[in-house]
Amino acid sequence: MSANRQQVVDYFEGTRWDYRHLWRSEKAGALHFGFYDRRIRNHVTALRRMTGYLASVVGITPEDRIMDAGCGIGGCAIRIADHFGCRATGVNITPFQVAAAREAAHRAGVDGLVEFVEADFTDTGLPDASHTVVWALESVVHVDDKEAFVREAHRVLAPGGRLMIAEYLVREDPAPTPAQEEELATWCRGWAMPGLLTAGEYERLLHKQGFEDVRIVDISPYVAPSLHRLRWLVRLLGPTAPAFRRLGVLAPVPADNLIASAAQIRMFDAGAWRYQVVTARKPAEPAAGTPGDAVPPGHTPAEPTR
Ligand SMILES: C[S@@+](CC[C@H](N)C(=O)[O-])C[C@H]1O[C@@H](n2cnc3c(N)ncnc32)[C@H](O)[C@@H]1O
Repeated sequence: MSANRQQVVDYFEGTRWDYRHLWRSEKAGALHFGFYDRRIRNHVTALRRMTGYLASVVGITPEDRIMDAGCGIGGCAIRIADHFGCRATGVNITPFQVAAAREAAHRAGVDGLVEFVEADFTDTGLPDASHTVVWALESVVHVDDKEAFVREAHRVLAPGGRLMIAEYLVREDPAPTPAQEEELATWCRGWAMPGLLTAGEYERLLHKQGFEDVRIVDISPYVAPSLHRLRWLVRLLGPTAPAFRRLGVLAPVPADNLIASAAQIRMFDAGAWRYQVVTARKPAEPAAGTPGDAVPPGHTPAEPTR
């Protein structure tokens, strides 16, 4: 169970107004950045487009069963179920978001395909091998024990199942300077993120848990316009945030959220992090007759010879 769980819930409760009114999260069911390709000019369309883009990366089909780890208010799971007709389970520790996701699924008419459970994605209680895709969009950044998430994803995935994580990865080479590390820490503190990984750290973690075919793709150019919206909000509201926080005009969580967003943008401009999509596959079961298969009944294997 993640140790920083309450901090995450407090962050999303404290920034509920900001996400709804400044990010238009409820319009798109999205608490993530948008994906801008050539055709997209509009913020809400870009938020929705992120789901479509990632669904194509993962290769979602109607037969898939998706676990949306840290599902927010359910937009991705709902849109995928609606578009592909597949089943999805949204997992989230923030109770008001789970309730909002259930209502949204009902309104979209997909409550027969999608269920939302209030649980920690490092310990979901879902059955072994029950899903074909684990989808984590800007959610693993919020957990202290990322290895526990990867282990749980591996457990709930059926053999051959696919894992997709889209989030902010810290530059590996050259590593951030000490001043940049401090800025990254300000961002992490304000957004309830215990820490960010580098691409190499993810790769090692995934291989250690038995994932194969690990790929990491930098999609920052497609996400950058979405950051411009945040840049604009930070310019408008950021300068007053520290003073308003001290005066008690702005509560600590939304004030720190703004201060963190400003640090995030500075660190993006400095190249200290990039928006990346990590995909990996749980190995398929070995084909019948390959070593490691169960011994057929009545057959006693020979002792290995030396
Ligand atoms: C930035 S939001 C992204 C939500 C959603 N994936 C989206 O893209 O709209 C992160 C989400 O992860 C959830 N979350 C963070 N840590 C979690 C954990 N340990 N278990 C389950 N959910 C978690 C938060 O409650 C929040 O809904």
